[in-house]
Amino acid sequence: MGVVQSIQELKGLLDPLAVYGEYVRLTRRGRRSTGLCPFHKEKTPSFSVDGETGLFYCFGCHRGGDLLRFVQEAEGCSFAEALELLASRAGVTLASGGARSAPAGTGQDRKELLRKLLAAAERYYRAALKAEPAAGAVRAYLVRRGLDAAAEEAYALGYAPPRGGLLAQLAKEGFKPGEASEAGLVLERDRGEWGERFRNRLLFPIRDAMGRTVGFGGRALGDDEPKYLNSPETPVFLKREVLFGLCWTKEAIRRRGRAVLVEGYMDFVAAHRAGVADVVAGLGTALAQGQAALLARYAKEVVLSYDADAAGAAAAKRAVPVLLGQGLSVKVATFPQGKDPDDCVRAAGAEAYRAAVDGAAPFFRHLVEQAQGEAVLTSVEGRVAFLDSLAEFLMAVPDPLERQEHAREVAGRAGLDPNQVLRRLADAAKGQKVPAAGAAPAEKAPEVPVNEQMLVKGLRRFPEEGARLAAALGPELRGKLAVGPLLERLAAGAEPEEPAQVALLAFIENSCHETVTVEAVRAAARSLQVAHLTERQRRIRQQIEDASRRHDHGLVQVLNREMMAVLDEVRSLGAARP
Ligand code: UTP
Ligand code: MN
Repeated sequence: MGVVQSIQELKGLLDPLAVYGEYVRLTRRGRRSTGLCPFHKEKTPSFSVDGETGLFYCFGCHRGGDLLRFVQEAEGCSFAEALELLASRAGVTLASGGARSAPAGTGQDRKELLRKLLAAAERYYRAALKAEPAAGAVRAYLVRRGLDAAAEEAYALGYAPPRGGLLAQLAKEGFKPGEASEAGLVLERDRGEWGERFRNRLLFPIRDAMGRTVGFGGRALGDDEPKYLNSPETPVFLKREVLFGLCWTKEAIRRRGRAVLVEGYMDFVAAHRAGVADVVAGLGTALAQGQAALLARYAKEVVLSYDADAAGAAAAKRAVPVLLGQGLSVKVATFPQGKDPDDCVRAAGAEAYRAAVDGAAPFFRHLVEQAQGEAVLTSVEGRVAFLDSLAEFLMAVPDPLERQEHAREVAGRAGLDPNQVLRRLADAAKGQKVPAAGAAPAEKAPEVPVNEQMLVKGLRRFPEEGARLAAALGPELRGKLAVGPLLERLAAGAEPEEPAQVALLAFIENSCHETVTVEAVRAAARSLQVAHLTERQRRIRQQIEDASRRHDHGLVQVLNREMMAVLDEVRSLGAARP
């Protein structure tokens, strides 16, 4: 396998359009290719790739950048992981140190080792399940839960035998007990005495979004406690950032713009097999911001399909503000039968469960109905309590119009004055910690004057003339421009590295312009300068007025000279006009 020394070299080996093309169906339009953005739902294409620079930009959600940025977004992975992915695609490895921004050395290497170890453990547990005789306890359990060979294969189910054996296998493959312990698979009982974490359990490998095994969830076969034993947090398993099953369903989630969130591993398997292609599961912990952010990369809408008991309802209620905080819209599914999705599929059938999920109600209607069922709306206190129980959720609705709409509905149901309701909500918002409402995930569209864009394009197309024009602007004017730092990098012959600058360049490269000619670029530079000088004249004139009002004749003289210099500059610009 070849080794490349730098990211630039790696990029040179890749056909960017082919990589983008794996995620987006692109149509070529001259230099640019366009398609439906993979990051949000849309009917007309606003995603565009500049075929020459390889930069992408979406005019709908304003994501943009280079191929690496794209892979990070599309795979939901880190910079280092995206690099790894692209390198393996190009059939090369990146010399360590090649990835400046990746924490090269210890951290990455350690994680890589732990992932290899976990992959080896998964193979061991799979083999143990396959070797289990038809009459074994885990076989009987699988039959009872309706899990056939296809399910075993699809979700890479495994078995931790009662007597253990993992450590011996790992040792054979060259892993040390301390490493297995760091991966969360063994515990040190006594000095030098190691015990395996999982025994006599059915194992669900937990994978990250890229499909790498990072931990396990182990189901007891009988009434052993705890019912589920999970891997602890490790350097590769950050529970707040992993969702079970996402690696298998992220494509479907992206296509549909929706994710169905369930509580358990078994619920995931049941729902997925019932044809809910866009399901994911939490890890038995409260939904974390990081997990919601992960979902927001793929979905616009989340359907909560938690257990139909008090604990499930409470967990759903806690998840709502977390999801809203990531700009996701939230619905809540109600099952026709059963206590959780797995039960529901068994009791009512796959079709009934799918219908329940597709017919989910907006979370707010669901909450209002639930709260109304518990409230006593005949007394003033009861109505206020009803309102207060919903206040937190109302305040978490990011869109003010939508919020007002909901407030009206609540007021209507409680027989209260809508304005009073809104006022009380505003007070509540002051008093309590309201989750980051409207912490919009998508960055705002860059606002870049057309002349500045033309200058950047000019620098790309005519590097020499572009650099001359950029230098002629002078540091003061460049410092005022939105594209100032970008111009400086490009003029120095370097590529931007800072994500904001890469995105800005992508935006500019992908926006439509009249043809970029030397004349058009010169004209753009000139208008920027004229505007700058006009502004300076205005300021000096103001200062002269102030100074003469104070009878500061010395200052007036200085300012007059400055004004003459500016006028000279304006004149020289005019003279340069072709
Ligand atoms: P549930 O108790 O709802 O499990 O826990 P379930 O999905 O219905 O499981 P079955 O059908 O009885 O096999 C939901 C999730 O909470 C976590 C697990 O992630 C589980 O999938 N959990 C539950 C634990 O981590 N430990 C436990 O002891 C129980
Ligand atoms: Mn269950």
